[in-house]
Order: sequence, then structure tokens, then C-alpha cells
Amino acid sequence: MYRPKFGVLVSGGGTNLQAILDAVSSGKLEADIGVVISNVAGAGALKRAEASGVPTATLPHKSFGSREQFDEALVARLLEADVQWIVLAGFMRLLTPTFLEAFPWRVINIHPALLPAFPGVDAQGQAFRYGAKITGCTVHLVDAGTDTGPILAQLAVPVLDGDTEDELRKRVLLAEHELFVDTLCLIAKRSVVVSGGVEGQRTVVRFGPP
Ligand code: GAR
Repeated sequence: MYRPKFGVLVSGGGTNLQAILDAVSSGKLEADIGVVISNVAGAGALKRAEASGVPTATLPHKSFGSREQFDEALVARLLEADVQWIVLAGFMRLLTPTFLEAFPWRVINIHPALLPAFPGVDAQGQAFRYGAKITGCTVHLVDAGTDTGPILAQLAVPVLDGDTEDELRKRVLLAEHELFVDTLCLIAKRSVVVSGGVEGQRTVVRFGPP
């Protein structure tokens, strides 16, 4: 039976990683986590991985001479772990073609807004300051742009009257946990098929049985 192995890249506290780890241990997500890698030493996400017995690595981006050298080191560690899919769970570095070409259309990101609205950093704050009435989160495949890759799934989150930015951020984060796990379950069931991806052609993401 198909059982994919994910490599997870993290930079922060790791609540999305925790949701994924919990889904694996409960049997909901039929996949394995081969390695969790952080560019930030001591990131909370690393402690969560260690507590679940998942191998971890720290590759501080500042100790590499260029983005490409950093990405080469990431790729080497991920290949060593023999993972098929790369999951960005709060990973705050842009990836270069060096990385993306090593895992073509196999890099999945969660973004805390309804793309294509509010790409880039602090998406929840952007939506709040804009006065959006509905925001949410998006799981998408990563391409060379910033949050521009093919969208796999989205979940809407209302902005309630009287919300503070922090309250909105927390509500979006809870939606992220749900959407990320559900989308990774689809991938583990081979219900997401990606084809195309050649420059100049549209990448097609198809949902349904393999
Ligand atoms: C999440 O809100 C995630 O969507 C965001 O970082 C947070 C990580 O939280 N990622 C991005 O903004 C990527 N551009 P977590 O460490 O608790 O999972």
C-alpha cells in the first residue's frame, strides 16, 4: 500500500507540525514523517518533533554563503531521509530553483490567507488591516513565485465584528491545522494528481481516485 514519507521544514513554534504529528499517530494520516528540519536553532517545532521520536536537523541559513548553498544542504538532508513530499509548516525562507528542481511539484505550503489575496509575510495582519470580512488559509504547491503555486485546498474564516488581530490570527491557525491535515490525507490517499509543470504550460492538479 502507498504510504508516503514527508520531510517537514519549519521555522517557528510548530503548531501545524503538531497537528500533522497527531494525525499520523492517530492513524488518520497514513504517512510517515522522515525528518523535520529547521533553519532556526531551538525552534519550538524541533522540540515537538523530538517528543514524537521524529529525526530532526538544524541548518541555520546564516551559516551558508548563499541561498543556493543553503538549499543544497536542505536537499541533501531530505534525500538522505528518503522523503517523497516536502511539507512547509511555517517555514519562513524562500526556496530557490536549486531546491524546487530537486522536488518538482512535490513541495506543499500552508499560507494563512485565501490566496491569491494577501501573499507574503503577515498575511493575517494584511487581511485584518485591509478590513476583509472573510479570510482563511490555503494549501498550495510551491513554484518559483511567492505564494503563487497551484492551489490544492482553501478554508474560509470569518473576521468577526470586534475581532482583534490576535483573535483573528488564532482562528486562522485553527483552520490551518484542519485544512493542512485534510489535504495531506488526500495526498496520502493519492487523491491529488499533479501533471504538467513544464515552463509555459499550465500545471494541472486533479482531484479524485488515482
Ligand atoms: C502559520 O500561520 C503558517 O501559515 C505561517 O506561519 C505560521 C506557523 O505557525 N506560514 C507562513 O506565513 C509562510 N509564508 P506554526 O509554527 O505554529 O505552525
